[in-house]
Amino acid sequence: MKHYYEAYEDRYKQVHAQTNKAWSGESHSPTIETLLKKYGVCSNSSILEVGCGEGQNAIYLLKEGYNVEASDISPEAIRWCKQNAKKCGVDASKFFVMDVLSNNLNKKYDFIYSVAVIHMLVEQLDRDNFFKFFYEHLKENGKGIIITMGDGVQTYKTNPNDAFKLATRNFEGKNIEIATTSCRMVTKEEFVNEIERAGLKVLNLELDESIQGFNICMVAEVALK
Ligand SMILES: C[S@@+](CC[C@H](N)C(=O)[O-])C[C@H]1O[C@@H](n2cnc3c(N)ncnc32)[C@H](O)[C@@H]1O
Repeated sequence: MKHYYEAYEDRYKQVHAQTNKAWSGESHSPTIETLLKKYGVCSNSSILEVGCGEGQNAIYLLKEGYNVEASDISPEAIRWCKQNAKKCGVDASKFFVMDVLSNNLNKKYDFIYSVAVIHMLVEQLDRDNFFKFFYEHLKENGKGIIITMGDGVQTYKTNPNDAFKLATRNFEGKNIEIATTSCRMVTKEEFVNEIERAGLKVLNLELDESIQGFNICMVAEVALK
């Protein structure tokens, strides 16, 4: 049985087949590179992206010479990333399929980041496992960036049973049928609590209006406690 948080696989396939365009656009979010620089991450540091989607952030960082691996649960997303990586002349083998909730890579990283993935996780156990992945895969002095949709005040939670249902959406001036995906927005206090319950500490938490595809997001900079 498919999990509700796999609905992006259907959405990517539908958007790519109907438009041959990236659902999330081509632009990267500058926040990631700003924070890599803030924490002194260099070309020798190991970086992992969790839930990279169509790969706009990882491909940009690979082009800039960073040592990035990028993963997503959606095979269609990873197919798209590899195709674009080849077009951009960066290493396509850096992209791989991975469910962050059930995988242990037996490897630790200097820096792990995730853009707009945690808000897809509606069930608390799934959210707890997401943060646990960061805890288990960060080096002792490693840093993590967890970006979630929302302003930290408004809360919202979709019914996981609604995931995959087809809905008509306007995309690039064209009406297309795409799968509904899940969403949970939490308060700033809830976000900090769930991160800290996983054995991580929040170094900084800010609102950010520059994340590609989202009006406003919370950006948590984290490390091991
Ligand atoms: C809103 S999209 C964001 C994609 C990309 N980070 C971006 O900024 O465009 C959420 C992504 O999380 C991925 N995702 C959801 N659940 C996941 C899981 N359990 N493990 C890995 N990726 C997951 C989806 O497949 C989708 O690509």
